[in-house]
Amino acid sequence: MTLASLLPFLAASEARAEGTFWMPEQASTFAEEVDWIYYFIYWIDVLFFFLVIGAMVYFAIRYRAKTGKERTSPLKGSHSLELAWSAIPGLILLSFFWFGFQTYMDMQVPPKDALNIRVTGQKWNWSFEYPDYGIRQGGDQGLVVPSGQPVMLTMSSVDVLHSFYIPDFRVKKDVVPNRYSTIWFEAKGTGDHQVFCTEYCGDDHSRMLTKVHVMEPAKFREWVRDNKADDGPVDGQSLFSSMGCIGCHSIDGSKLVGPSLKGKYGTDEQLTDGSTVAIDDNYIRESIMVPGAKVVAGYAPQMPPYQGRLNDEEVNALIDYIKTLK
Ligand code: CUA
Repeated sequence: MTLASLLPFLAASEARAEGTFWMPEQASTFAEEVDWIYYFIYWIDVLFFFLVIGAMVYFAIRYRAKTGKERTSPLKGSHSLELAWSAIPGLILLSFFWFGFQTYMDMQVPPKDALNIRVTGQKWNWSFEYPDYGIRQGGDQGLVVPSGQPVMLTMSSVDVLHSFYIPDFRVKKDVVPNRYSTIWFEAKGTGDHQVFCTEYCGDDHSRMLTKVHVMEPAKFREWVRDNKADDGPVDGQSLFSSMGCIGCHSIDGSKLVGPSLKGKYGTDEQLTDGSTVAIDDNYIRESIMVPGAKVVAGYAPQMPPYQGRLNDEEVNALIDYIKTLK
C-alpha cells in the first residue's frame, strides 16, 4: 500500500507542480509523496508548538505567585492524563514512521523495466553511461532521461565519497568507491533539473554540478539514435572470454568448475556457510575481485582474485554482460 493509493488525490495531478517556500518544484513521482509527508510533519509540529507554548504561557500567567508567601499547591499525578499525553503523540510519531517507511520502500525497489544508467563520480565531475546503447555522457553534457518512465541509476565513485542529489526529484544517495549504490525515479514533464554533489569531496566539491535533461520519450529515442556509439564502450562478452571467465562459468546452465551464470542475476544464492546472498552488482563485483569472500555452496574456492587485473569500467562491462545471460 502506498501513500498515493491511500490518498488517491495525491496521484491525480500529472503536471509538474511549482515549488513552494520550503520545497523546490516537483518533477518526479516521488516529489509529491515526499512533500506530502514533509508538510504532514510540518503542520503537526506547528500545531503542537502553539499548543505547548500557548499552554505554558497561559499557566505561567494564570498560576503565578501573586504574593511571596503563597505555597506551591500539592501535586497529585493523573494516570489517565499521563497515558493520554504519551499514547497520542506516540501514535502520531508512528504515523510519521508509517508514511515515511512506505515512501522509503518505494524508493528502494526499482521497477523491473527501469532504464539502466551507470553514474560515475570523480573529483570533480560526473559521467553517465548507457550500457544498453553504448552511450557515454560527461557531466558537461548532463544526464539525459525520458519522462514518464522509470530510470535506475547504478552509481559508483573512482576516488572518494560523493553524493548524487537531484532536489527536484527528491532523490539523493551516496556514491562510494568500490561498491554500487542505486536510486531510481520517474521524471514528470520535460526540462532541465540541477544535480548537486552533497558530500564534501575536496576543493571543487561545490562545483561538482551537472544537469538532468528530461525529454519526451519519442525525443529521447531520437537522442539515443543520434548518440549511439558504433564501437561502444568495453564489451563484456569479449572480456568474459578473454579474461578466462568462460573456462569455469558456463552461460548455458551446465555445471563446470564454477557455477553457471545463466539466469543468475537478480536471484538468491546459497553460500558454503549456509547463508544466502542476493546476486546483484555488489555481489558480482566482490566475487570477481575477491572470489573467496562468498563462495556458492557446492563449489570450492578455486577462482583467482581479479583485483588489480580489471579496472572499474571492465568490471562494469562484465556485470552488464552477466545481466544479459537469461
Ligand atoms: Cu563530489 Cu562533493
